[in-house]
Amino acid sequence: MVEHIEKRISVRHYRRMKIEDTVLSRIQEIMQQVHQNKGPFGHGIKLSYHHSPYIEEQTRIKIGTYGFVKNAPAYIAGITHDRFENLVDFGYLMESLILELTGLGLGTVWLAGTFNRKAFDVLLRKGEIVPAITAVGYPAGKQTAREKMTRRLSRADRRLPFETLFHLNDFNRPLAPDTPELMPIYQSLELVRIGPSASNKQPWRALVQYPDVHLYLKRNPKYGKVLSFDLQALDIGIAIYHFEQGLIGKGVTYKIEQTQAPTHPDLTYVTSFKIGKNP
Ligand SMILES: Cc1cc2nc3c(=O)[nH]c(=O)nc-3n(C[C@H](O)[C@H](O)[C@H](O)COP(=O)(O)O)c2cc1C
Repeated sequence: MVEHIEKRISVRHYRRMKIEDTVLSRIQEIMQQVHQNKGPFGHGIKLSYHHSPYIEEQTRIKIGTYGFVKNAPAYIAGITHDRFENLVDFGYLMESLILELTGLGLGTVWLAGTFNRKAFDVLLRKGEIVPAITAVGYPAGKQTAREKMTRRLSRADRRLPFETLFHLNDFNRPLAPDTPELMPIYQSLELVRIGPSASNKQPWRALVQYPDVHLYLKRNPKYGKVLSFDLQALDIGIAIYHFEQGLIGKGVTYKIEQTQAPTHPDLTYVTSFKIGKNP
């Protein structure tokens, strides 16, 4: 899984090619698996697969991406309830799906802003929302002009330095990547750092108080108002998934648990990893 995290990038331009039947069967198996899983707060998500260009063949409701995605043969939409903890779990589980698809050699892109969300209302029951969807298909291999622009605008290849995102013991001490006591969790933090986030805002922060690692969300206040739900909760769910996969990859045991973590006026505490504990 670590390999898939390192390999994944947003793909917005696809080859004009249907998903092969054998690959489609694998996708369906993966979706079933994700359906059975729960996020760190214990919530599941629903997923639905749609051949492009329609959400439903009968009603011919189209999946719109405002031209941001080209030639994707399919989309997978995720459904959950509009509550912070559900949205964190959504980010976690949807990212697990995306990384499995990456492992199949497929391209994906998280879409939470540039798609016609209203069109997906046909799938919803009361209280449910579609926070995000992903395109699925074979990457075209070359970027469209708009993709280049989107990548440049969101500075997609860039990530904030380790020392900006992570602190040791208290919020005044930036964490250097070569800190010796960091060894068992260094890769996990690096996997958080390279993760995708909405508009590449990278709102995840961590305070390492070994053996505890507290995760926080540094919200971009104006950004939060653009959508009716807490978009950046998805980003932190993705970060939790990446951090956990790093630990699993290294055979490090851990427990995810909310605890009395230090507070900071600019940060929302989300949860903690207790390293060396068993769940
Ligand atoms: C929750 C979330 C929502 C996103 N929404 C969109 C979107 O609406 N449109 C889009 O083109 N990219 C979207 N992205 C992709 C990000 O722009 C991209 O992940 C980020 O710029 C980093 O680039 P990378 O994925 O290639 O590493 C979203 C990513 C995340 C995690």
